[in-house]
Amino acid sequence: MKQDLRQWIAIHASDVTPNGEEKKKVQQVAQLMLSRCKVAAERLNEKVTIILGGSYAHDTWLPGKGDIDVFLAFDKAVGKDGLSVKGLKIAHEALAGYDVVTRYAEHPYLEGFVEGVRVNVVPCLNVKKGEWISAADRSPHHTEYMSAKLNEGMKLQVRLLKRLMQTQRLYGAEIKVRGFSGYVCEVLIAKYGNLEELLKAASSWRNDTVISLEEYRQNVEGFAILDPVDTNRNLARAIAPWKVAEFIFLSRIILKGTKCDPFLQPLLDYPEPNDLSDLLENVFVLYFTHRKENEDTIWGELARSSQAIVRHLTQEGFEVLNHTYSSDLHSSAICLLLAGERIARLRSRTGPEVYRDKETDTFLKSSKTLTWFFSDDFRSRRIERSSFPDILHLIEFYMERPIERIGFSKGIAEGAKKSWKMMNGKEAMLTSDEVVKDAVRRVFGYSPAIDSC
Ligand code: CTP
Ligand code: MG
Repeated sequence: MKQDLRQWIAIHASDVTPNGEEKKKVQQVAQLMLSRCKVAAERLNEKVTIILGGSYAHDTWLPGKGDIDVFLAFDKAVGKDGLSVKGLKIAHEALAGYDVVTRYAEHPYLEGFVEGVRVNVVPCLNVKKGEWISAADRSPHHTEYMSAKLNEGMKLQVRLLKRLMQTQRLYGAEIKVRGFSGYVCEVLIAKYGNLEELLKAASSWRNDTVISLEEYRQNVEGFAILDPVDTNRNLARAIAPWKVAEFIFLSRIILKGTKCDPFLQPLLDYPEPNDLSDLLENVFVLYFTHRKENEDTIWGELARSSQAIVRHLTQEGFEVLNHTYSSDLHSSAICLLLAGERIARLRSRTGPEVYRDKETDTFLKSSKTLTWFFSDDFRSRRIERSSFPDILHLIEFYMERPIERIGFSKGIAEGAKKSWKMMNGKEAMLTSDEVVKDAVRRVFGYSPAIDSC
């Protein structure tokens, strides 16, 4: 039986807010971090303002997901470069003894795990509104803005929205996800007041919709969610457009009432690859190992490298229906769904118009020309042999020199060149490698059955 959004919300209103015990724990870590940062700054003789930001300060964090964002605001004169050096020194010292990873937004910051709680220590510059120098400079202004804007009821609505986004695989600003960030969720609730009103509005968002809490003057291109503390910044640029489309689609479904609990179960399901066993013949996986890098770097490089492969395959005449990629930071897989594993033996290339005399001569003189003729559009055509009619040989050619031949990303190219192997979909399903399986699982897209738990 279908239940409507209000019924689902009634079930989850209590479980999206952390309980007293958890709040106390996270609060203790926040206090500890404030004092550790203060001690570190004093010892290093740096003048900084230490500010709590993000969902902890805005009181919009989810149970089990408490993460504390500490901003180290330096004087403007320190500048962007000084910021990274001085800020990271303090951050390292404040997090000494804990597990730490360097992460990158526009500049590096540290992520640590303190007593089980994720802590981000992010350097920024203390600037007036509008005088931004580094990207993180806006964060303290976000905290100020949201503290004034969100009442208790709206904070609950932000939490519900974040839980919904997480469950529907749309949450997270990391490069790996390119989804809706916590701050975007706050902006959307601040704009529409509550989840239901947001979903109603989102149901009819288009690719030129501009969402803004504040007045703006400039012309905005494409779908946009403007940052209320800086309307020149489009927060939606960090979100993959297909994720926005998915949210629009899901909004309509959720408003109609769902059989599945949208806060607990994804409404869109990946088909079981083994159920599509005949389609597995059209799946190809390029698998390789590489040196370990931080998550944002690897996923960024994978995104660019797989796009490069798809672009080149398409130029060669392959029809790439979809592609996905996955990584565990040591090894990665790029998965391709092809219309067919072989392309036609011959192809024709269109040349310039006949009155471009030099270009026409050069075009026809190509060593690839088997035969040629003119078409009714005054342009020449040459018939040539497809250089690599099957995918395996073409990938082999690319991977001999991945950077030069297709512009593979440098960080992963070295490892890929030495370790790559190709698998077809059937072989991929037989491995126990989670990286391969994850990529293959998503390459077909979703099952036609929606909301079918
Ligand atoms: N931020 C931003 N733009 C983004 C992501 C983050 O400006 N695309 C800034 C915001 O000031 C935000 C802060 O970084 O308040 C912390 O971001 P993050 O930890 O990603 O999100 P939270 O809102 O803290 O959500 P979560 O509960 O997932 O930690
Ligand atoms: Mg956070």
